[in-house]
Amino acid sequence: MATYIVLLGPPGVGKGTQARLLSETQKLAHVSSGDLFRENLKNQTDLGKLAKSYMDKGELVPDDVTISMIRDRISRPDCEAGAILDGFPRTPAQADALEIMLKEFHGAVNVVPYITAAENILIERASGRWTCRAQGHIYHEKFNPPKQARVCDVDGSEVYQRDDDKVETVTKRIRVYFDQTIPLVEYYRKEGKLIEIDGTQAVEDVTKVLLASLKKK
Ligand code: AP5
Ligand code: MG
Repeated sequence: MATYIVLLGPPGVGKGTQARLLSETQKLAHVSSGDLFRENLKNQTDLGKLAKSYMDKGELVPDDVTISMIRDRISRPDCEAGAILDGFPRTPAQADALEIMLKEFHGAVNVVPYITAAENILIERASGRWTCRAQGHIYHEKFNPPKQARVCDVDGSEVYQRDDDKVETVTKRIRVYFDQTIPLVEYYRKEGKLIEIDGTQAVEDVTKVLLASLKKK
């Protein structure tokens, strides 16, 4: 059976940062819905343009297009053993759709690490984030700056600030998270899959706790 790990948590908590590290240690593909939308936007596809109109307002992209984008992504060969899902599902309808599609791919959601932190920390993290243009590597102006200003350590491309990382938009995204995504906490808790992780610690400490709890599961 393929293994799917769903990373749940509010905007800016560190899902992308941890997903990249987990993807290496667990040898599973990293599937980020936000990165897929940004890639579509970079390529000026219709999906990218549609997604941008929601992302800029801090709102969720409609379920139908999001679900079909993820379905297409996890049907690719690099997801045969499973994937780390970062930012998907984000609504109960997406969680139901995921369950159905994973049956078809001979997999299931095994575990759902739920990373949390207070709103002031989320805003500080998101508003100080710098993202690499080429492959989405993640930096922070204070907590994890690139060695050379504005240049990605890994691939040398420019790092930029996401349009949706302005304080007002981040605040809206956090509100949307509490309205639309929080029901998934109970959804996965009821299934016995949720593990709660304190996201306020340093990146390495969050990773340690995450790996230890995955081992226990
Ligand atoms: P998406 O790109 O998924 O954004 P998000 O969920 O709001 O989360 P972020 O990427 O902002 O934060 P993160 O938790 O990944 O944190 P990161 O590791 O970068 O979605 C963007 C938009 O796309 C949505 O608003 C929506 O419009 C649309 N969308 C996406 N998925 C969708 C879906 N399923 N359905 C509908 N619409 C969807 O870390 C943040 C910063 O903190 C970085 O600077 C990092 O260096 C730093 N940091 C991380 N961990 C730590 C730590 N422990 N200590 C100190 N600093 C840290
Ligand atoms: Mg992210």
